[in-house]
Amino acid sequence: MIFPEDFVWGAATASYQIEGAVKEDGRGQSIWDTFSHTPGNVADGDTGDVACDHYHRYRDDIGLMRELRLGAYRFSVAWPRIQPDGEGSINPHGLAFYDRLVDELLAAKISPYVTLYHWDLPQALEDRGGWTNRDTAYRFADYAQAVYDKLGDRVTDWATLNEPWVAAFLGYGNGVHAPGRRDPADAMRSAHHLLLGHGLAARRLREAGARSIMLVVNSAPVLTPAQVNDPSAAPSEADAAATRRIHALLTRQFLDPAVYGTYPEEVLAAAERNGGTGHIQDGDLELINAPIDLIGVNYYNPCVVESGPGLPADAAWPGSEDVKFAAVDAPTTAMGWPIVPDGLSRLLVRLSEDYPRVGLMVTENGAAFDDAVEGGRVHDDDRVAYLDGHLREVHKAIEAGADLRGYLVWSLLDNFEWAEGYRRRFGIVHVDYATQTRVPKDSALWYRDVIGRNGL
Ligand code: FCB
Repeated sequence: MIFPEDFVWGAATASYQIEGAVKEDGRGQSIWDTFSHTPGNVADGDTGDVACDHYHRYRDDIGLMRELRLGAYRFSVAWPRIQPDGEGSINPHGLAFYDRLVDELLAAKISPYVTLYHWDLPQALEDRGGWTNRDTAYRFADYAQAVYDKLGDRVTDWATLNEPWVAAFLGYGNGVHAPGRRDPADAMRSAHHLLLGHGLAARRLREAGARSIMLVVNSAPVLTPAQVNDPSAAPSEADAAATRRIHALLTRQFLDPAVYGTYPEEVLAAAERNGGTGHIQDGDLELINAPIDLIGVNYYNPCVVESGPGLPADAAWPGSEDVKFAAVDAPTTAMGWPIVPDGLSRLLVRLSEDYPRVGLMVTENGAAFDDAVEGGRVHDDDRVAYLDGHLREVHKAIEAGADLRGYLVWSLLDNFEWAEGYRRRFGIVHVDYATQTRVPKDSALWYRDVIGRNGL
């Protein structure tokens, strides 16, 4: 099973999850510092204070990437390192870190994929309303410009936002993520302002000369329980309506405005019921509809729903009244997430049909398992099976005509898994947090060989 010649193979991480060094070189506070230091928010009281200490160990980590033959590395820039107060003057020491990182990657012949926002909003902006405040979108565009001005001579591949659905609906809806607010109207507003920030930043990057710009979404095929194991199962009209609505809230809410400059009616209806649509100003959709080159797809598991008459909306899903989020009949990872590899091919084919003029890239896919180091090795056969299964589906999607440019495994390293802290290990490289020792798991060695063969 051979992949296209120029297929991009790599791995992904995010700033707050790996860097540590939260007080170094003038970095300001982010909402994740505040949130993780508030008792009760993160499992075991974990914080990103030290994480993988990547801020100091990035050279060795790039050495590891080289050994694993990675062609691409997706990382994110911590906004509070660049603008400690979220606006105004630029901290040159913060930019210098990413400058060194990019140079080191290029020297190792690894293409940097830079994500500008992977959830670590400067706390100073949250104090002024965070993403519920329209002004944050404009501040984001200024920050994006500052990063581009420093790195744009060497970085060709840019992502504006990572998973705006999660930032808005877990951050401001059910409060499981920073800043931990719980208000459906705030979540709807935040989603729109995140999109506005994406559009404004994408325009600025494009004008400055960026070659490739993407928006990264957490997406999933929305299926009925019967469709999980039988794609051809015909749903009832009520179940089909439930899947359509949740698909609109999860995926079309972000991709339709970005690609077509329109909101699905289900999203407008959800906004109407939760604070109204007054925050969507004339001209916003034109701004959001800035041309993008790629949709970044983060896939872990399908979303399974059925009609649930009388049920209230889930806190993370304003507009999901009368929908039941159903259990899935499939084995699960340590996160409890069902393993459904062909959900990935179904998703990629659907996205390629719905957004045919935009390329696709799998910007995250991977799994947490309870790994253990034994005799200097980590035999994570379950992760190898997960990755192998999903890569076969990636290949299937390409054969079916999806314009899929690459695959980035989540994650290079075990890291701070947000509200789950360090107890969930997603890395293909094991990290012993007490000693910061890195041990490539069997999955890393397997992935290296996949990359070497450009296939399975
Ligand atoms: C995604 C996030 C990423 C990581 C994985 C497991 O939602 O983008 O940071 O936590 O899930």
